[in-house]
Parts: sequence; structure tokens; C-alpha cells
Amino acid sequence: MRVLRRTLGTLLVLGSATLSCATAQGVDAKPGDTRARPAAVRAAAAPAPYERLLPAPVSVRAAGAGYRFGAGTVIRTSGSAEEVRRVGELLAEQLRGPSGLPLPVVDGEGGDGVRLRLDEAAPGLGAEGYRLDTRADGITLTARTPAGLFHAGQTLRQLLPVGGPGTVPGGTVTDAPRFAYRGAMIDIARHHFTVEQVKRYVDQLAQYKVNTLHVHLTDDQGWRLESTAWPRLARYGGGSEVGGGPGGHWTKDEYRELVAYAGERYVDVVPEIDMPGHVNAALASYAELNCDGKARERYTGTKVGFSSLCVGKERTYDFVDDVLGEVAELTPGKYLHIGGDEAHATPAADYAAFMDRAQAVVRKYGKTVVAWHQLAAARPAPGAVLQYWGHGGTPAKEKERLAQVAKAGHPLILSPADRLYLDMKYDATTKPGLAWAGYVPVKRSYDWDPGTFLPGVPESAVLGVEAALWTETIGTRAEWEFMAFPRMLGLAELGWSPAASHDWPAYSRRLAAQAPRLDAQRVTYYRAPDVPWA
Ligand code: ACM
Repeated sequence: MRVLRRTLGTLLVLGSATLSCATAQGVDAKPGDTRARPAAVRAAAAPAPYERLLPAPVSVRAAGAGYRFGAGTVIRTSGSAEEVRRVGELLAEQLRGPSGLPLPVVDGEGGDGVRLRLDEAAPGLGAEGYRLDTRADGITLTARTPAGLFHAGQTLRQLLPVGGPGTVPGGTVTDAPRFAYRGAMIDIARHHFTVEQVKRYVDQLAQYKVNTLHVHLTDDQGWRLESTAWPRLARYGGGSEVGGGPGGHWTKDEYRELVAYAGERYVDVVPEIDMPGHVNAALASYAELNCDGKARERYTGTKVGFSSLCVGKERTYDFVDDVLGEVAELTPGKYLHIGGDEAHATPAADYAAFMDRAQAVVRKYGKTVVAWHQLAAARPAPGAVLQYWGHGGTPAKEKERLAQVAKAGHPLILSPADRLYLDMKYDATTKPGLAWAGYVPVKRSYDWDPGTFLPGVPESAVLGVEAALWTETIGTRAEWEFMAFPRMLGLAELGWSPAASHDWPAYSRRLAAQAPRLDAQRVTYYRAPDVPWA
């Protein structure tokens, strides 16, 4: 039995392919340099199937004969759990794709094929882990939860060649995530994007085991979610975006559809209503939300920090209660993000008073508060989660305050802007994007340790990591993909894979091996010169 633990990298080329979950709508314009051939790094030989898995699993033992997919292959789900059947159906759909195999889903575990087995007592797998055993007579996926079975299925997709039936080599993958929270944020406020476009992102995230989609729904430039109690927010406040375009918003039904779609892929949607700053769209929609009773103009620029809710006015808290109540009602997950960043137009004492009340509303609706890390300077409510978005230039005092808050029991999500802000340019040649936190090449985005990153914050205080894509300069789905990929795969690896497997040369070879898969899915990704693409 050969143990392949972390010897990633140097074997021979197997085809790779997929299993496309790409839908046609995504790619609407191509930044010109997407497919430029890099000269800086020599192409590596593509790794063998177990060695190209991304994120890297906890352990792989290659042994014995493999299983060959063929016309007779079936997917077997055990009869008891409806949800397991649904996971099996979705996996079959993902595997059918270009393979052309029928892959029927049948009840019962006996016989060959791909078997999905829920075992609530399986040791060592946790809430999202799985085991994948491959022998000549079939492949068994075992997990304690349907989510674990779903993740096992995504691993199986990567073990098959792109674009055809193939053989999965014999062996066992045993796997579980390092961090519970592995997120991606998309800002649909600065530029409006459709639910269909966001669904494509969900597919792209889920296949790399990212389990949270944070949607930045409101900002100065647009309010993107229907409200029943305050209908002008979306109808008027949604009708603008950066650069003067028409904007738009999602109905509640569209939002529910996204939440359901993501949920079926074990991606939790975290809605963000940013307060008390970043609210010009609300102030433009309702005069009564302004301290002077006068509605603001809609805003299509890119400045930040100029707007504030009127903290001293009781009507403000009717608004907060109504809006957060409606969003909580649309949210099956436990988190509700209330922003709290860059409230430069709100005096510090007002900010603290406002955040006290907003947090109480979140708790009243049975949700857990998430806020940007500026909440550390106020009074985080018990259990509130803080999201760090600082960078190398962030004052040490701010980081120390955050470490104190973490020591007091508040979990942290890490989104360092100079690592995980996907709207930061890769380098000086990147056309979309910003650079206020510096350039973020692919290596820099991946090559750090969330468990030791913030002084005084132990790994046990880190709930997880999240990559954020702000869209001041991102107006098309192609630009969005170009900035997110391939850095998003680094986020997936940081969130899932054990710290012991962290290694840029090995990771960059596995990343390069994903290229045929990304190509088959028609992902517009950056052929970064620091990656040894084939
Ligand atoms: C942020 O980037 N203002 C959270």
C-alpha cells in the first residue's frame, strides 16, 4: 500500500475534465489578456488523480485496482434518507455532463457502481468530512451527513478525467475540513448582478468545498433586495449603480431561489445589510431616514464613508427592525451580517449605540451577528462574529483590540485585504480592480497561515476564511471571474486543507492541474505567471 500523503506533484499527465456545471450565461466579456501564456514559471508535468485534488485532502492511500466508469455504472443511495437521494441525483447530473454516461440513480446499497452511504457513527469525519473508497467493484462514499457526501462527490469529480468515462485508481481518501467557515463574498450593490450569475458562482465555489456565500446586498450605490415594509428601498434605491448604469434588485422570490440552490450544494447564504454607514441608497429612498428629513440624491461614484443612518431618530430603528426581520425570515442559516465598516460619518459614541441596537435586533430574530471588525471598537454582543479585513498598514492597536475580542470568545473570519480581497489587482498589468491594499498575486493570496496570522489570535478563535469581491470596478461576470479565479482556489485550500499540507510549490502544481477543468467549464481565469500552467 503506497501512502501518497503530501507527495503532490510530479507524476504523469492524465487527462482531466468535467462534468461541467457551467451554464451559458456567465461569460459576457473577456479581458484581453486572460489567455496570455506566462513565461516566468516552467510548466509542471500534471499530477496523477489523487495528487491533483484541490483542496488537498487530509490523507490519501492508493491501493489495489481501480473502478472503471462505464455504460452500466449506477449511483446507489440508501433508501432511508431523501436528502441522500438528492445528493446522489445532483452528483449524477454533474458526472453525466460530457461523459455521456446515463448514470441512473437507484435505491439500495448492494452491487457495484458508486455507493452513497450515510453513517452517523463514522469516526473522525465530523460534520462535513467523508471517506471515499475505490476498489475494482465500485466506489463507496461514506459520511456522517449529506453535506459530507456532497463533498465526497466533488472529490470524485476531480478523480475522473475531464470529458469522458474513465478509471478512478484504487485507494482511500479520508478527509475533513480545517475550518468550519469557508466563504466567498460578492458585492452586488456597487454593480448589480443577477441571481443566475450568482448561481454560477455557487457551482464554482461548491466544487472546491467552499460552504458560504456572503452577499453584500446594500451600499451607497444601490439597495438590491426587495423589502415589503420599505418598498422604495429596492424600487428606487436599487435603480442606480457605479458609473450610472440602471442597477436593479432581486425580488424575495429570486432571493429564496438562490438560497435554495445554494443550500442544495451545501453553501450557506449570509446576507449583509451594511449599517450605519454605506446607506446612501436608503437615505435617497426615504427622506424620513435622514436627520434633516431631506432625501439624498442617488449616488453612482466610488467614495466611501460619507453616509450614515440618523442614530438619534426612533424611526431609524423601525427601519432596522423591519429590514433585518424580513432578511432573517428569508435566511435559513444562522448568520446575519450587519456591516459596521467605514462608518466615518457616524461619531464613535453614536456608532456604538447604534450597533448595540442593531445587534439586539439580529438576536431578537434568532440569528447570530456577523460584522466587519470595526465592531471591535464598540461593544460586540455575546456570540457576535467579527470579520477582519485589515492589511499590512492596519494600525497595531486595531489588531490588538481584535485579539482581545477574540480572547473574550468572539470567533473571527479572516479576510485580510492584502490576501483575500479579490478586487485587488494581481499586478500592475491587471485591468479591472483596485490596489489600495497592494497587488495580490496568486502566490501571495495563498501563501499565509490563517491559524497564526493575527498576533494573539489562536487558531481556535478562527472560524474560517473568506475571499471578498467588491465591485466598484467590476461590471461584468467575465471581470468577476477573472479576478476570482484562480485566487478563489487558494481560499478553498486555505479553508479546507490541513496546515501541514501548506506548500506553495506543491499547491501551484495542483492549481495548474485544474486548468483543463476550468477550461472545460469555460471559466475566465487569469493565467497568472507565478503558476506552472501546462
Ligand atoms: C470593507 O472593505 N469596507 C469591509
